[in-house]
Amino acid sequence: MNNQTSNHISIIGGAGHVGLPLGLAFASKNFKIHLIDKNKKALKNIEENKMPFLEIGAKKLLQKANKKKLFFYENDLSNISKSKYIIICIGTPIDKKLKPDLVGFYGLIKKLKNRINKNQILVVRSSVLPGTNQKIKKILKNKNSNLVYGPERIVQSKSLIELPKLPQILACEKKSAFESSKKLFLKISKKIIKTSILEAELIKLYSNANRYINFAIANQLYTICHLNNLDFKRVRNIMQDGYARNLNLTNAGFTAGPCLVKDTMQLKYFTKNSFSLGSAAMKVNENIPNLIIDKLKKFNSYKSKKIGLLGLTFKGETDDTRDSLSIVLLNKLKKLNLKILQSDEYYKTKNGISKKELINKSDIIIIGAPHKAYKKLKINKKKKKLIDIWDII
Ligand SMILES: NC(=O)c1ccc[n+]([C@@H]2O[C@H](COP(=O)([O-])OP(=O)(O)OC[C@H]3O[C@@H](n4cnc5c(N)ncnc54)[C@H](O)[C@@H]3O)[C@@H](O)[C@H]2O)c1
Repeated sequence: MNNQTSNHISIIGGAGHVGLPLGLAFASKNFKIHLIDKNKKALKNIEENKMPFLEIGAKKLLQKANKKKLFFYENDLSNISKSKYIIICIGTPIDKKLKPDLVGFYGLIKKLKNRINKNQILVVRSSVLPGTNQKIKKILKNKNSNLVYGPERIVQSKSLIELPKLPQILACEKKSAFESSKKLFLKISKKIIKTSILEAELIKLYSNANRYINFAIANQLYTICHLNNLDFKRVRNIMQDGYARNLNLTNAGFTAGPCLVKDTMQLKYFTKNSFSLGSAAMKVNENIPNLIIDKLKKFNSYKSKKIGLLGLTFKGETDDTRDSLSIVLLNKLKKLNLKILQSDEYYKTKNGISKKELINKSDIIIIGAPHKAYKKLKINKKKKKLIDIWDII
């Protein structure tokens, strides 16, 4: 492999939430990045300096990368031989039965098998079911044995802030491939932690399950308070007043999004349904929209009122609605034939109105996502009812 190619990185899934920021981070270190993605529209936007999603600090880096011609936009694997490093960042979804759906993922590996050579380093960045990398090794046998698992651990929309700070976990059974990938990732981060492949797979999924279960603990207390007409915020505050052992109790909220539920369910599958904490957390977290509807129904003549849902994304400061429980709530409200208004700071649809208009026109306001812009909103609580699980207002 000559010098030119060792400066080239192919990122498969390069237009996605993990692949694109990673590409920007490497481009900021002057690597030439082949963004390979099946989403042509997203690639076109990126080429025109338009970020396809909200990512803090990305715009300037994107403009720079395009200006310096460091990004190549590709729709298939035909140029893959130019890159020393191939990083896989495609989605690893679960199906309707909550089981990992890796058909697309293994389909890609099979295609790669015919194109990859012995010198290239293949880094899997996606969050995968434990055991997946061993299966990849089997598929690639005799073609390439430089397989590295380097899971992404950033929090969505803050990749460029977190990548330089977070230690990178890298797992690889071959010393030379490990050293090579270590050198690569040290260009964008300060610390590398070496683990076995199975450890890295488990660590990635359990990190998300850990967060998911933690949020469920708060949501469980919120549920108990609701069922007993107690104020969650007051109960939580008293629990934490001068009592440091309770400070880990988070706020309640809609806990979902593209990773936490999925990765918890991947672990459930991996443990052959014995991940009881994960299953219990899902039951608690996914029930929160029903609880909000319960709260709504306690208001007199709610059926004739205008209900405003403020914030639709899966968390604050993102435009991502994947697996958003606010959207689940919206659909449940629609099924009840209620008069609904909707608004979001970042996720714009033709039905969306501004936050001011929503507040003016609604009788009951529900906070669906805790965007910072809602913090200073003034709502006349004598005239309007507010359901704010996030306690943002
Ligand atoms: N979103 C996050 O914050 C985050 C954080 C850590 C880890 N992860 C993990 O990273 C992986 C990717 O997540 P994401 O949020 O970036 O998903 P995403 O949907 O935003 O991006 C995936 C991209 O891959 C493309 N793609 C899918 N199949 C392809 C194929 N065969 N060839 C070329 N392109 C293909 C899609 O068009 C999409 O642009 C998942 O395993 C996820 O669990 C995500």
